[in-house]
Amino acid sequence: MTEKKFNKYTVTAALPYANGPVHIGHLAGVYVPADIYVRYLRGVGRDVAFIGGSDEHGVAITLKARTEGKTPQEIVDHYHEMIKNSFASFGISFDIYSRTSSLQHHKTASAYFDNLYKKGVFEEIDSEQFYDEKAEQFLADRYIKGTCPTCSFAEAYGDQCEYCGSTLSPTELIHPKSMLSGEVPIMKATKHWYFPLDKYENFLREYILRDHKEWKSNVSGQCKSWLDGGLRARPMTRDLDWGIKVPIKGASGKVLYVWFDAPIGYISATQEWAAAKGKNWEDYWKKEDTKLVHFIGKDNIVFHCIIFPSILKAEGSYILPNNVPSNEFLNLEGNKISTSRNWAVWLHEYLEDFPDQQDVLRYVLTANAPETKDNDFTWKDFQTRNNSELVAIYGNFVNRALVLTHNFFEGTVPEQQELQKVDKHTLQVLSSFPDRIACALERFKFREALNHLMDLARLGNKYLAETEPWKLIKIDPERVSTILNISLQIVTSLGLLSKPFLPNTYDKLSKILNFGHLDWKDAGRSDNLKKATVLGPAVLLFEKIEDDVIKTQIKKLMDTKEEKKASAVQITPIKEEINYDDFMKMDLRVGEILTADPVPKSNKLLKFTVDTGLDHRIIVSGVAKHFSSQEMIGKKVTVLLNLAPRNIMGINSQGMLLFAENEDGRLKLVAPDTSATNGADIS
Ligand code: MF3
Ligand code: ZN
Repeated sequence: MTEKKFNKYTVTAALPYANGPVHIGHLAGVYVPADIYVRYLRGVGRDVAFIGGSDEHGVAITLKARTEGKTPQEIVDHYHEMIKNSFASFGISFDIYSRTSSLQHHKTASAYFDNLYKKGVFEEIDSEQFYDEKAEQFLADRYIKGTCPTCSFAEAYGDQCEYCGSTLSPTELIHPKSMLSGEVPIMKATKHWYFPLDKYENFLREYILRDHKEWKSNVSGQCKSWLDGGLRARPMTRDLDWGIKVPIKGASGKVLYVWFDAPIGYISATQEWAAAKGKNWEDYWKKEDTKLVHFIGKDNIVFHCIIFPSILKAEGSYILPNNVPSNEFLNLEGNKISTSRNWAVWLHEYLEDFPDQQDVLRYVLTANAPETKDNDFTWKDFQTRNNSELVAIYGNFVNRALVLTHNFFEGTVPEQQELQKVDKHTLQVLSSFPDRIACALERFKFREALNHLMDLARLGNKYLAETEPWKLIKIDPERVSTILNISLQIVTSLGLLSKPFLPNTYDKLSKILNFGHLDWKDAGRSDNLKKATVLGPAVLLFEKIEDDVIKTQIKKLMDTKEEKKASAVQITPIKEEINYDDFMKMDLRVGEILTADPVPKSNKLLKFTVDTGLDHRIIVSGVAKHFSSQEMIGKKVTVLLNLAPRNIMGINSQGMLLFAENEDGRLKLVAPDTSATNGADIS
């Protein structure tokens, strides 16, 4: 490897929020690649700390507690255990899996904040924020709902409209309401401590764009656009009662911002681990020859590449992340994985349905990892990769080598005798594999690395096909002895090199061939297995997955969609009663669409000119995803005429067109009969 030799490695995997179980998207994006990397490093004898834990603070947790009617502590206790177990069953080999509600973490994060405070790093800023007078609480953005200014969706959150995807600030919402009491919140002054990110722009440009040109382009691209967009000071405290108390005077009722404390969780977990192991945690965080690597998903890039490094820099004694090999997202059967819509393959459910088949999932998620772009997981692909790759290539080779040895040599490793050309060539190719795979892994190219591993199994199959030992046994047993010895050496290397990717398969092979004393460093050699070593019985490493198993999984997913629809119909509550006058306040008319055009820079909005019988007016609606402008022209529509005009992306929209939303989220026009005249009253 050309890279500078590091003495130690600190490898972290994003701390998942303890507000739900983990699914295949988590594994594919973060935990499997991190684990492969770490297992590889250990295999080549490097000193590694692999740090993980649960992220237990922030609004993500308090909201979940609210909807479940539990305390935040109950929520995090439950999910922390569950997540920890899922990771353990999939062989994610953390040196420690800690949690941010731990005492150690509270102390460390609090002291870190206090230190920066004393150094005068923060700016104290007073601002007005939404406050719920009834609940006597300031409201986090997620606790405010209202109408989206862009698409008019009535249930948009203060930070984001889930319907049209726009990023919002709560003051932009039309008709904001507190989710705590349902009341209209007021604006109230509050003080917060801001981290002046703007002052770190030069540092960040040099650190990311100049000194780390090797970062993945999806990562540096996102960083560059944050830098070019201009950095602003960000508040590091929040008005919330769940989290780490702000350790300074005049800050009662305030906690540290979750994105301030969570990455420090990597540090506190390292401290906890080091204390238990009699090591010095500072060796893993404060030494120039320690390599710090963060594995994360793409929604975490700004926090790990921009904010956390600046916070480390502000303190001054820490090393900076050397690489942040973020992945993109994994979709499931064509749709975005969603916890709230239950569109996911949950790890604990996979384990019930596919017991002892963790390696199959690890394999498929790596082979199809969203390394450079979003990718799709499908059950069909899962089946194909299992049946035609793991079973047909890997398992088949191993099985043939073992069965032939059992049949011809009573299960003991035969001797390597005089080598022919094909043998020498095969052994030479074999010797190139450890480096090839290592190179890919050191560059975080996990798919490529796995591909090389499968090429090694292919090499084994090719060798057997070319030498055909089963035909030679009667005439030339010495030749067969050599061929099977070489085949078993390939099986051994395949096993050793599989260890980071397929740990259970490694274990099985290690038992059968008894090579537990060897490691990655030994792979590629032609003499790992000594003559007369007794082999265990040939077990099947992988089993074919039948169509009905796959159908069951697909059906299970489709059923959650159906359930969701049914429950959506049941629970959409009837709105509060109104009287006739309320209804008559609305001026509803028959209209006709004259023109329809997309709105520049928006993929959600269409701009209509509508003949209302009284005038021709402009109305903007967030329906571009559902209708083409062409199909709308000439349609009769129901128009709400007297809705106060609103400015939508610079266009003055006068009124509203009525649509019905189906259970699947598709919009349908609420259209009057074609013979109704424009301007006719609807009542
Ligand atoms: N909990 C965050 C998420 O799931 C990740 C936190 S990573 C850490 O998106 F660095 F903050 F720990
Ligand atoms: Zn919207």
